[in-house]
Amino acid sequence: MKGNVLVIGGAGYIGSHVCKALATHDYTPITYDSLVIGRLQSVKWGPFIKGDILDKNLLVSTLKAFMPIAVFHLASYSNTRQSIFEADSYYRNNLLGTATILEALTEYPPAYFLFSSSASVYGQGALTPIKEDALLHPTNPYGHTKLLSEYMVEGFCKQNNIHYANLRYFNVAGADPDKEIGEIHDPETHLIPLLIQVLKKEKACFPLLNTKHPTPDGTAERDFIHVSDLAKAHIHALEWLYKYKKNITLNLGSGSGYTILEIIKKLENITGQKIPISLQPPIEEPPSLIADTTKAKDLLNWIPSSNLDMILETALNWHL
Ligand SMILES: NC(=O)c1ccc[n+]([C@@H]2O[C@H](COP(=O)([O-])OP(=O)(O)OC[C@H]3O[C@@H](n4cnc5c(N)ncnc54)[C@H](O)[C@@H]3O)[C@@H](O)[C@H]2O)c1
Repeated sequence: MKGNVLVIGGAGYIGSHVCKALATHDYTPITYDSLVIGRLQSVKWGPFIKGDILDKNLLVSTLKAFMPIAVFHLASYSNTRQSIFEADSYYRNNLLGTATILEALTEYPPAYFLFSSSASVYGQGALTPIKEDALLHPTNPYGHTKLLSEYMVEGFCKQNNIHYANLRYFNVAGADPDKEIGEIHDPETHLIPLLIQVLKKEKACFPLLNTKHPTPDGTAERDFIHVSDLAKAHIHALEWLYKYKKNITLNLGSGSGYTILEIIKKLENITGQKIPISLQPPIEEPPSLIADTTKAKDLLNWIPSSNLDMILETALNWHL
């Protein structure tokens, strides 16, 4: 089973790595992206359509033109803190956008649909390591949009006989080991690139949000998965859907946790530079989000091959 795969949000950080993984496995990725966040320089492995996910007509004509066997939906706003202050734009882009994509698919339904969900669907209260059947209780609008989108994907795909995977990413980090693509946003909001900006003196200090969590050093504990490992999981998930003709919801993480201060110290050790910190007003966020990845490893036969050192090394190589 090879063919066209429509990657919505393919010009973004994860989407571009997914496109590279698809091309490496002989699929043709078709990138559909408005470039509201993503970058044209990251589209390197197939055709590009500049379009918004709220534009149903363009989505339909793209589906008609390329007849993809699968659609991967990675386009969304994804800054937890921003979602608290700009909830309206998050609900519009992430929820209405997902509904519009799903509606467009009724005209040219692909056989398979992969949705980029997030560990933020668990929110507070889930016991770590978190299994897929843990309590779903998102604590911010971003998490709400991911959970509600999962429900929409489930209902819609069942109705239209499309096999789907809801993939709950934990903290995705690192860069392509070949340095072809990497993580970059403007303004930057993600942990490791922000820390690298401080190292490069492009930012005076790193804004630390919470220091009173019940973790060993008080800062949030997160599960970091290398972006190329995560991208490869999409190929495994697509081939699983093809083989078993079922639907699936999976955690995609490394299964190990590091606190924000641990990451800062590790980067300081690698580079020999001090990273200044400024304490910010706390936001409501889960103290610890670490994946139980047993299901993904068992069902997909997917074994992440990287670790935190490789994540930091590839990120530094890309940025410096
Ligand atoms: N980065 C992480 O650690 C992480 C963790 C969990 C889930 N996710 C999810 O993975 C997906 C990809 O994340 P990312 O880190 O690559 O983000 P990103 O911002 O780099 O990529 C998202 C892409 O979607 C595009 N996009 C956004 N709104 C659009 C619209 N209305 N129309 C067309 N294109 C639009 C952007 O231009 C961008 O290229 C997102 O859905 C995100 O919620 C990311």
